[in-house]
Amino acid sequence: MAVMRKAPSVRLLRAIIDSLPFPVFVTDPVTHAIQFANRRFQRAPDADRHLCHHLFHLPGEVCQAPEGYCPRETISRTGQPFISEQMHLDAAGREHWVEVQAHPVFDSDGTLAHIVEFTLDITEAKRRQRAQERETAINSALAQLAAQLIDPRHGIEEMARLTLGHAKWLTGAPHGFVSHIRPDDGALVSSTLTEMIKHECRMSAPDQRIVFPPGPDGRFRGLFGVPLSTGRPLLVNDPARHPAAIGVPPGHIPLENFLAVPALLGQKVVGEIALANKPGGFTADDQTVVQRLAELYAAGLQRQQNEDALQQLNLDLEQRVQQRTAELRQTVRQLKQANRQLHVLSAETHRICEERLADMSRLIHDEIGQLLTGLKAGLSWVERHLGERRSDAARLRERCQELKGMADEALEVSRNLARELRPHLLDHLGLAAAIEWLVGQFRRRTGIAVDLRNDWQESDLPAAARVEVYRIIQEALTNVARHAKASRVEIRLTREAEGLVGRVIDNGIGISRARLQKGFSLGLPGMRERARAIGGTFEVQSRLRHGTEVCLVLPRRAARSPRRKARPT
Ligand SMILES: Nc1ncnc2c1ncn2[C@@H]1O[C@H](COP(=O)(O)OP(=O)(O)OP(=O)(O)O)[C@@H](O)[C@H]1O
Ligand SMILES: [Mg+2]
Repeated sequence: MAVMRKAPSVRLLRAIIDSLPFPVFVTDPVTHAIQFANRRFQRAPDADRHLCHHLFHLPGEVCQAPEGYCPRETISRTGQPFISEQMHLDAAGREHWVEVQAHPVFDSDGTLAHIVEFTLDITEAKRRQRAQERETAINSALAQLAAQLIDPRHGIEEMARLTLGHAKWLTGAPHGFVSHIRPDDGALVSSTLTEMIKHECRMSAPDQRIVFPPGPDGRFRGLFGVPLSTGRPLLVNDPARHPAAIGVPPGHIPLENFLAVPALLGQKVVGEIALANKPGGFTADDQTVVQRLAELYAAGLQRQQNEDALQQLNLDLEQRVQQRTAELRQTVRQLKQANRQLHVLSAETHRICEERLADMSRLIHDEIGQLLTGLKAGLSWVERHLGERRSDAARLRERCQELKGMADEALEVSRNLARELRPHLLDHLGLAAAIEWLVGQFRRRTGIAVDLRNDWQESDLPAAARVEVYRIIQEALTNVARHAKASRVEIRLTREAEGLVGRVIDNGIGISRARLQKGFSLGLPGMRERARAIGGTFEVQSRLRHGTEVCLVLPRRAARSPRRKARPT
């Protein structure tokens, strides 16, 4: 209501306040007496209820209202309207809220002529405002708790502590505990129970964690067991009379009232929020709030359990990876070891073979060769001493000639065989001569043109290495003859920066990748083994229809000192 600087006529003022839909009265600012009131005020049987008792002191009496609460004094002092909210208790002790309003009415010379006063019942608005404020407080508390519960830094105990704090604050209950069901054994674990009775709790475990195992029937006894067994909340304001009550242990505070709500994941109970001894008892509203908290707590437990499971899974995985890695390392070590043994074995086999071949070659050359030569000499002697007198001398001489021819042939075969088995040229004239002999044999046997260029010097290689090189070239030429369908072969023995390099290149049909990878033949793997045995490397390069090149590289160091000792043959 606006401040009226020019006092309207009393008639007009009456008309105005009569038009208002609530009780209004007008007082004298000096005597404080009610000058007149509107019809509503007169009709209201409990009009007195609307009066603020502080307003009705007579002039000269001391105002009972606290400083700044007396509308008339305030208006007299400030000349401004006065509005304040006040709470009244009715006979039944129920709260009633009123808004007291007092408005000054001045006359034309500015003197305060009247005070228009009325009170509005704002109990319902106040109740709604309070409910709204509480809802807002609950929502922001729940949002805060939700943020805390999804924070991975908070473990299960911290989550219980935070939930309990919010439950106590939102309900006004001074005691309570928040617990969870341990998935392994179904026991109820609470690390917040001692919060309830702190120093008085004689049940407290050293780690402040109390574990209640379920009974043999899988159920929990006592009031706190009801929500765990039924999955429904329990609100009792007279707990001693409840059928599930079993009393409290020694040292426990007496239970005046009790509210317990299960934390549920679907139908499954995963924990509980229990509160006790709220002054005035718990309400359905408290139960609703705690149920909302329990939903968040259950989600937090789920998050924690998922994280635990994930962590366990990670640990298991890590362990399995470590175990597999250790096993693999062990296998690799064993393989390497086996490989080394295989190489040693292979080198030894080659050496023994070469020795046997050399022995056989010597046997054929020396023994059989000697015998055949002796045989031939004997035949010549027989031939010479046949004489002319014998009638069949001519026939016998002819026969001797034939036998000598056969002995020559046998000698030639045995010589060639001896050379194949062990090219004596290698021992006597060296690698270059042996290779030339090999090439000559190859040309004769296959008719394939061979271009040989040899820049190596005999001293480049120790004796043992020479045999291996010879065998590698021998197998390369054998492969050309057997598989390549080539018309030409180049043999290049060059001295390069990396060491001695030997290449046998043909212009034949080439080797397919698949064929190369099959690997159940002996030739190419044997060449590689021989190269390795003398500290070198061996490679095959081939393109279908573009020929094949096998390449042996002997680094200088390896060329001078082969891995195995040369044995005199
Ligand atoms: N110069 C080449 N040209 C074409 N194919 C070749 C040549 N050298 C080797 N091959 C192919 O590679 C395969 C493997 O050769 P490798 O010498 O290992 O075995 P092999 O000659 O078949 O039998 P062996 O064990 O008696 O030597 C041959 O079977 C052949 O198909
Ligand atoms: Mg071969």
